[in-house]
Amino acid sequence: MSIIKTAVFPVGGLGTRFLPATKAMPKEMLPIVDTPLIQFVVEEARACGIERLVFVTGRQKHAIENHFDHMYELEANLQAKSKMEYVKLVREHLGEPGEILFTRQMSPSGLGHAVWCARHVVQDSPFAVLLADDFIDAEPGCLAQMVEAYEANPGNYLAAMQVDRDKVDRYGIAEPQDGQSPGQQSVRIQGLVEKPSPEEAPSRLAVIGRYVLEPEVMTRLSQLVSNSQRGAGGEIQLTDAIAAEIPNCPTYAYHFDGQRFDCGSKIGFVQATAHMSAKRGLV
Ligand code: G1P
Repeated sequence: MSIIKTAVFPVGGLGTRFLPATKAMPKEMLPIVDTPLIQFVVEEARACGIERLVFVTGRQKHAIENHFDHMYELEANLQAKSKMEYVKLVREHLGEPGEILFTRQMSPSGLGHAVWCARHVVQDSPFAVLLADDFIDAEPGCLAQMVEAYEANPGNYLAAMQVDRDKVDRYGIAEPQDGQSPGQQSVRIQGLVEKPSPEEAPSRLAVIGRYVLEPEVMTRLSQLVSNSQRGAGGEIQLTDAIAAEIPNCPTYAYHFDGQRFDCGSKIGFVQATAHMSAKRGLV
């Protein structure tokens, strides 16, 4: 099984784009058909043999904790009615007690800050980061593909895909090394910049929310936090920590096989719902 044992799930975001739905409910609990976004990424991580799942949460995120625990009254009720297929449905994603750890980000200071909050669990080992907003339908899962690439050839791996030039300012954008063919699955990169303007972007190769990272990225994040080195949007950026490590560690933009939907946007969420509905024969 994989040498990546820890995955970090930053789930502290406010979900502003989905208000009012996300006023009292975490955006990660929005369902694609009947399954919350967070459950998809947890299952993607478990499929790689990941044993420690760290959720970096915020206030109002209790529904996520409850989702990964027993709901005795509901289970007893379903059992009494012999609805065993539903009993299975509410239990099968729970995992082992102690597998999921929760820590609070306390202040919304950016993705890098959220990942840094998991430092005491990650310690000195390579780790994965998964963003539930990026829904990826892939078999094997996107993270499994990246872990396989990492194990064959270690380094920092960032899931990536080409986006339209007018959308580069929504993403971390990679700068491929000279001589790298755009068709390669793992493209070695020499630069990375968070949310550049279309004029400044070094390419259209955008980072998508799956990362396999060496522990030195966490050390870089600690430096950014202790020096209050805020990047794009005035936030502590994961992109900046990874970029700082490029001279020391081979860093790859990884073209995954699969279909990605931006479930941080309404249109992406609707498209993901339509895609999964069709796949399950519901429409
Ligand atoms: C984050 C990262 C960005 C990445 C994106 C992928 O941005 O900071 O580098 O390209 O996720 O979804 P966010 O969507 O949190 O603004």
